[in-house]
Amino acid sequence: MYAVENTKLERKLFGLTFKNPVGLAAGFDKNAVLYNELSNFGFGFIEIGTVTPKGQAGNPKQRLFRLKEDQGIINRMGFNNEGLETAIKQLKKNKGKVIIGGNIGKNTQTKPEDYTKDYLECFHGLHPYVDYFVLNVSCPNVGSHAKLNDKDYLLELISAVQKANNSFETQKPILLKIAPDLNEGQLDEIIELIAETNLDGVIASNTSTDRTGLKASEARLAEIGNGGLSGKPINEKSTKVIKYLATKSNKAFPIIGVGGIHSAKDALEKIEAGADLVQIYTGFIYEGPKLIKEINEAILKM
Ligand SMILES: Cc1cc2nc3c(=O)[nH]c(=O)nc-3n(C[C@H](O)[C@H](O)[C@H](O)COP(=O)(O)O)c2cc1C
Repeated sequence: MYAVENTKLERKLFGLTFKNPVGLAAGFDKNAVLYNELSNFGFGFIEIGTVTPKGQAGNPKQRLFRLKEDQGIINRMGFNNEGLETAIKQLKKNKGKVIIGGNIGKNTQTKPEDYTKDYLECFHGLHPYVDYFVLNVSCPNVGSHAKLNDKDYLLELISAVQKANNSFETQKPILLKIAPDLNEGQLDEIIELIAETNLDGVIASNTSTDRTGLKASEARLAEIGNGGLSGKPINEKSTKVIKYLATKSNKAFPIIGVGGIHSAKDALEKIEAGADLVQIYTGFIYEGPKLIKEINEAILKM
C-alpha cells in the first residue's frame, strides 16, 4: 500500500543503489528486530541501532515524551539496546529486501580512553551484516559530548575505523551523524574532517538540545527534564545545517537529511538544501507510513 516502485526513484550513492531515497532513521529499530517487516512500508533503507558492544538498559522510564502541540518528541532513551550479539543474531535473518545501515555507538559506562574500542568492536561485529555504517557521535543522552565533539578525537576515531574497514575484503561506506546544534565554526570543522579523512558522508541531524520557540509551556518542559528534541520544531534547524554543509563544501560529500520531516514538502526542502537521501522518525510516528508514499510521489513529480 505504501511502497512506490519506480526506477526514477533510484539513487546511487557510495557504491550502493537505494531503490528510493526515503529511509527510517536510527533509534526506531534499535535491536534490528523489525527491519524485514518495516521494509514493506516502502522504505528505501533502514538504519538499525544505535548498537553498543554490551546490552544496556538506558535511562530510567519515563524517558520519551510527546509534545503534541509542537508535533515533536523529547527523548532521553540513553542507547537502550540489547547489544552487539543480539543485533548480529537478528541481522542473520535479513531477507535482503532493503539496504541496512548500522548505527554504532559506545556504552554509557565506557571510559573516554576506551570509546574507540567500543566503536571498533561494533564495526567489526556488524561489518558482514550491514550495507553502510554510521558513527553516532551526537546523541545528547549519553554524556561524553565534549570528547565526541572534539575534532582531534574524531580524526582519531575515523582513522581507526577506516583502518579496520581496510582490513576487510570489501569496504563498507562510513558516515558521521552530527547534531543540529553545531555552530558555523563547528560545521567548518566537520567539512575539514570529511576532506581530511575522505569519509563517505554525513547524516544531519540528530536530536537537538535547544528548546526555543516551542508551544509547550515552560512548566511542562521543566517537568519533562533533559532530552533531545525531534520532529517539527527542529525541521528548519537541520535543513539549515544541510544547506550550510552543502554550500560551504561545494557539495563535496553525500548528505542524508533528517530532522522534522513531517510532509513531502519538508522532504523536498531538505533535498533542495543539499540532501541526497532523507530519513524520518518523528514524522513517521505522527503521520504514519503514508508519509513514505507521499514523499516518494512528490519526488517523482519534482
Ligand atoms: C525515541 C528516539 C530514539 C532515537 N534513538 C536514536 C539512536 O539510537 N541513534 C541515533 O543515531 N539517533 C536516534 N534518534 C534520532 C533520530 O534518528 C533522528 O536523527 C532525529 O529524531 C531527528 O529526526 P526526526 O525529527 O525525523 O525524528 C532517536 C530519536 C527518537 C525520537
